[in-house]
Amino acid sequence: MTSTPYSPKIIVCESDGAAAAIVADLYADLLRDKPAAVLGLATGGTPTATYREFVRRYQQGDVSFARASSFNLDEYVGLSADHPQSFCYFMRQHLFDHVDLSADRANVPSGDAIDADAEARRYEEAIASSGGIDLQLLGIGHNGHIAFNEPGSARNSRTRVVDLTDETIRNNARFFDSIDQVPTTAITMGVGTILEARRIVLLATGADKSEAVAAAAEGSVSEAVPASLLRHHSEVTFVLDRAAASGLRSATG
Ligand code: GLP
Repeated sequence: MTSTPYSPKIIVCESDGAAAAIVADLYADLLRDKPAAVLGLATGGTPTATYREFVRRYQQGDVSFARASSFNLDEYVGLSADHPQSFCYFMRQHLFDHVDLSADRANVPSGDAIDADAEARRYEEAIASSGGIDLQLLGIGHNGHIAFNEPGSARNSRTRVVDLTDETIRNNARFFDSIDQVPTTAITMGVGTILEARRIVLLATGADKSEAVAAAAEGSVSEAVPASLLRHHSEVTFVLDRAAASGLRSATG
């Protein structure tokens, strides 16, 4: 795949807390302008500080999710919504149980659907019927994955069932009692699904993400680094702390 005209806007923050505040500002501004906005949400260790910030602002009366809806990026196949390591459980624990987002508009793929392929198709259609995602939050994997789109994922891929790489399974084992408990497949929004969001914010913190961030922002645009495919989109912001930005040739503050 050849290069594209777009470069992500890059915001480098002094700390991960400052980065979380910037992302929370983007969502709060959106919800003020469009209270019924469709929010794209992510899991992982990185966004937890952002969700704490959402909850704090909600408790202070600065932001309301009452008319909003949300779609999470992904879910492990085989885990029910009540499984403590499911992404649905994670979202309830970190956000949904603490704000006024209506439970029936907080969407996460059903990991325990009898037919996971059908669930992936249903999820893709639900995103389209909602009118599309206004602002999608992403993290990034060490191998450049976004959501569970592992290297090799097609630029036009849709929500589907995928196999996780050994590296991703190893990385995510920290959330489970043992590596054997980490599911090996997941339902994930596709790269093409993500690229249809009106705006995208990729949040990365910590030096261990610096290589993946540099490859995504400044390397070749290639399916080998799924996050680099975000450069097909004109409205992408990378919000980074200094450590995650340390591999960039051209970081601006
Ligand atoms: C998982 C999720 C991704 C997330 C990545 C990095 O694989 N599917 O959406 O970006 O982990 O997570 P962390 O923020 O914990 O580094």
